[in-house]
Amino acid sequence: MIDPTLAGLMNGFLPGPRTAERVPATWTDAPYTRCSLSPLTPTIGAIVEGVDLGGPVDDDVAAELHRALLEWKVLFFRDQDIDGAQQARFAAKWGPLETHPFYGTVTGTEVAAPEVVRLEKDAKVGGFENLWHSDVTWREEPSLGSVLRTIEVPDIGGDTLWADMGAAYDRLTPTMQARIDGMTAVHDWYTNFGLAMDPDERDRLRPQFPAVEHPVVRTHPETGRRTLFVNRAFTQHLVGLDPRESDELLEHLYAQASFPEYQCRWRWRPGDVAFWDNRSTQHYASSDYFPARRVMERITVCGDRPR
Ligand SMILES: [Fe+2]
Repeated sequence: MIDPTLAGLMNGFLPGPRTAERVPATWTDAPYTRCSLSPLTPTIGAIVEGVDLGGPVDDDVAAELHRALLEWKVLFFRDQDIDGAQQARFAAKWGPLETHPFYGTVTGTEVAAPEVVRLEKDAKVGGFENLWHSDVTWREEPSLGSVLRTIEVPDIGGDTLWADMGAAYDRLTPTMQARIDGMTAVHDWYTNFGLAMDPDERDRLRPQFPAVEHPVVRTHPETGRRTLFVNRAFTQHLVGLDPRESDELLEHLYAQASFPEYQCRWRWRPGDVAFWDNRSTQHYASSDYFPARRVMERITVCGDRPR
């Protein structure tokens, strides 16, 4: 039994049961008849079987996958022999595809089509996505989700982890939930990608991509679930707080993604494809495999403005 007087010192990070809900109370369960799902954890991540992403994915299958995405937040598909065009066709079932304005410039990678982000790392490039984040939250409309395809995976290492930010929000104390309710945060690419850019290029892009403000707690546009929507990669500060208070509070909120109880972890094999909901999750690319190479291609679906 932990001395209760230590609870304050541990800032809420007490050991003990840490169970979370998979879906909001308004969710209605329904059977999956066109595919089967094998969950990885109680709340996040499921392997989908019975779907060939290279073949035609009809509307009924797509509807089940969509429901599965909302329910499990990250879907994994094994042994998919697909090329970039098939990957793009699958992703496009969920909406217009996003083009990253400067990922290729910053990393110097060449891609077959503008909607492809090629994540290519080896001993020379090193890792840089090994911090918890949602993709492109510096956009006014961050992406809905991404489809990530393996091109070359190391024999061991290079796992990706995802965290369920709805579970993370639910398990904040009521006091903390009340404190951040209605707060907004500034998100920006300038102190992240911008640092790796040629200054002239950075200045050219700046007017097109100014810093943006998003709610700290986002309501998922489809499930209605509240999710914690600040991340260590792109969130700069909390609006209206002095810098020290903002930093302290953000540190506490960032740390929520680090609980293994809210996470799933995927060990990649050749032929794997992952599809995640960027609105309800954060992810982290483990950078433990150098000098081995790891190459992935990501195609991202446009999202909406967080509310
Ligand atoms: Fe990412």
